[in-house]
Amino acid sequence: MSEVKQPVTLKVLKGAPYLVKGPFTLIHADGREETMESAHLCRCGASSNKPFCDGTHGKIGFEK
Ligand code: FES
Repeated sequence: MSEVKQPVTLKVLKGAPYLVKGPFTLIHADGREETMESAHLCRCGASSNKPFCDGTHGKIGFEK
């Protein structure tokens, strides 16, 4: 039986992070690879845990 692969989707959440749904492989700046099912990625630039969202967008009033 062949596996049905779902496409990776990236959704822009208003005033919030990107929601990525996979599975997908995240390659960090140091080359480390991480296979993930989903992730919230920071798009406000203020997260202390980049590339992931840490909720800071709400504290700084990010609205885009
Ligand atoms: S989008 Fe959430 S901390 Fe940047």
